[in-house]
Amino acid sequence: MIRKAERVKTLKPSATLAVDAKAKALIKEGVEVINLSIGEPDFDTPSYIKEACKKALDEGLTKYVPSQGILGLREAVCETLKRDYGFDYSPEEVLITSGAKQAIFNFLLALVNPGDEVLVLAPYWVSYPPMIEIAQGIPVIINSTLEEKFEPSVEKIEKAISPKTVGIILNSPSNPTGLIYSEKFLRDLSEIIKKYQLWVLSDDIYDKLRFDFKPPQNILSLAEDLKDRVFIVNGVSKTYAMTGWRVGWLVGPKEVVKVCTDIQGQSTSHATSFAQKAAEVALRGPQEEVERMCKIFAKRANLVSELFSNIPEIQFIAPQGAFYFFAKVSSFYGKKTLEGKEIKNSIDFAEFLLDYAKVAVVPGSAFGDDEFVRFSFANSEENLEKAYFRIKEALNKLN
Ligand SMILES: Cc1ncc(COP(=O)(O)O)c(C=O)c1O
Repeated sequence: MIRKAERVKTLKPSATLAVDAKAKALIKEGVEVINLSIGEPDFDTPSYIKEACKKALDEGLTKYVPSQGILGLREAVCETLKRDYGFDYSPEEVLITSGAKQAIFNFLLALVNPGDEVLVLAPYWVSYPPMIEIAQGIPVIINSTLEEKFEPSVEKIEKAISPKTVGIILNSPSNPTGLIYSEKFLRDLSEIIKKYQLWVLSDDIYDKLRFDFKPPQNILSLAEDLKDRVFIVNGVSKTYAMTGWRVGWLVGPKEVVKVCTDIQGQSTSHATSFAQKAAEVALRGPQEEVERMCKIFAKRANLVSELFSNIPEIQFIAPQGAFYFFAKVSSFYGKKTLEGKEIKNSIDFAEFLLDYAKVAVVPGSAFGDDEFVRFSFANSEENLEKAYFRIKEALNKLN
């Protein structure tokens, strides 16, 4: 047997795999499954962005480019941060990556030593804990409840800090809750960050998908003096319906961006050249498409909230951004299906929905909260309504 590296010893297969495999098998059999497990917009990339990519190819942007990313895109990222947040950054403080995912990965590899602790607020995006573990750090999970609007008290966060704590990851609007952190929470948290001299990784990938249509905001908007310890992650995946293009970025203090660039220079080299050009045009071009998509998501968020408010056993907070609906379904645990199978946890519940309603959702355990399941509303209103009626009918059969 070939010996595996220590760093992969804690790597587990994704908790979503079982339901996902089952959904795919059903679809293959010809069953009409409504897939609400998907984490990407159901829109096509706007055509002016595709045209920009074709032009870049025709003009020969098909060779290696600098590891840090093409200057035009790094400048466009700075212009966007100025326009949206009023922040001043220079292109040396920007690293272009193959999606936000690689930005987070490079960052953690650059800053986490074996045994370092990184605070992660649950429910969290599935990839944070495994990425910290690959960097041989320890994810310290801080739980929160629906009643707390998924904002743990600052006292609770402070209690989780040890001499080994190096940083904290924030994500707002959040995947999976669809909620936006309050200004008070971010302000209070900024005091803790300063007191313990932590870094903050602000994953702002859903920042433009806010249903109050206000300008985006992150912890730096409320505590400018944190600029030397806040790192911003973003990308084009969700805002411009460009998940497959793989372009994201990390923005922050130069010396860390430089190390992350060196890591990237020894791994993927850089994000695809012509995709970077398309991303530059996405940021600099007309933003009406983004507004249009956001309005559609907002309408669906309302629709889903209205529909599910008719099932009192399901608790939720109406989404404020992103395209996820996080529903507390634990009041159904302990009930049995017609075949006599007891629903014990979120995986069982997701399997039940797939079997009896032909609706695929992601079990909350994947996000660190087993009392919930996540529905994505990156799907048509028609399908969302159909899914709701199927779910309601299936739930009536539980006893
Ligand atoms: C919270 C969060 N961060 C980062 C990412 C990764 O995005 P990208 O496609 O840019 O790698 C996702 C994608 O699902 C996400 O939900």
